[in-house]
Amino acid sequence: MKIVLIGSGKVAGWLGKIFQGNNHEIIQVYSRNTEHASALAASLNALAIDDLTKIDKAADLIIIAVSDDAIHEIIKKIPPFDGVLVHTSGSMDISILKSVTENHGVMWPMISVTKNMDANHEFVMVTEGSNPATESEIQKSASLFTKEIINLSFDQRQYLHLAAVFANNFTNHLISIAQVILKNKNIDVTVLKPLISNMVKQLNDKPANEIQTGPALRNDTLTIEKHLDLLKGNPGLQEIYELLSESIKNIRR
Ligand SMILES: NC(=O)c1ccc[n+]([C@@H]2O[C@H](COP(=O)([O-])OP(=O)(O)OC[C@H]3O[C@@H](n4cnc5c(N)ncnc54)[C@H](OP(=O)(O)O)[C@@H]3O)[C@@H](O)[C@H]2O)c1
Repeated sequence: MKIVLIGSGKVAGWLGKIFQGNNHEIIQVYSRNTEHASALAASLNALAIDDLTKIDKAADLIIIAVSDDAIHEIIKKIPPFDGVLVHTSGSMDISILKSVTENHGVMWPMISVTKNMDANHEFVMVTEGSNPATESEIQKSASLFTKEIINLSFDQRQYLHLAAVFANNFTNHLISIAQVILKNKNIDVTVLKPLISNMVKQLNDKPANEIQTGPALRNDTLTIEKHLDLLKGNPGLQEIYELLSESIKNIRR
């Protein structure tokens, strides 16, 4: 397939590398920033463009991998073409793409894609195509990345995205807060590793609410007050601590 990448960030780079490694040709990389387009294009032997009207209409697949908020703007500038157009967002309807081609859809990788990430990861790819032929094309592409492919409607996908933000993005942020707390007291952050691995291991066979522990669940108000006191220089973290503790208490009921 001849593929055009719109975007030069983490997802565009990762998708491009894997498609190329599977004998597909990345023909163009678009970015509003010429240097970013050139850097990714050079690594994929592609042509860098900073003007969407220059998209090669011979492309079989165009992938929009820009920030969610930029997708609407980008679509307005892509000339109509006959191939398949997808975005990679968990939270955007596919119908926003229909002005460009009737063959459109989404390929949302449900994984935190980081810079220069390699290919070997187990994750779920969520797809939706505007018609059966497009869905089948998108699933064929998705199978280069993972065996776990699920087709969901936009309504289902947006709730899955919401759930993923709680399960992955917020959890990771909370671990990042924990690491800062430890670093401030010169404690090696790796001390958290077994705690986190055991939590993930237990989640393999039990629902999260069954493995919840901690002062909020036990209603240990003295411990909660001590923790809030340790956070007194940081009202933002105190607020997060109080909100999450309250949420844990409410889920218990
Ligand atoms: N990273 C993930 O874990 C992940 C996972 C699944 C799905 N996604 C989805 O993948 C898409 C891309 O995410 P990403 O993580 O690759 O983002 P990213 O690394 O932050 O890259 C964002 C890209 O969007 C471009 N961009 C931002 N605002 C723009 C605008 N106004 N006009 C044109 N281009 C603009 C940036 O261009 P510049 O280089 O010029 O800044 C950059 O190329 C998003 O839809 C996201 O929801 C991400």
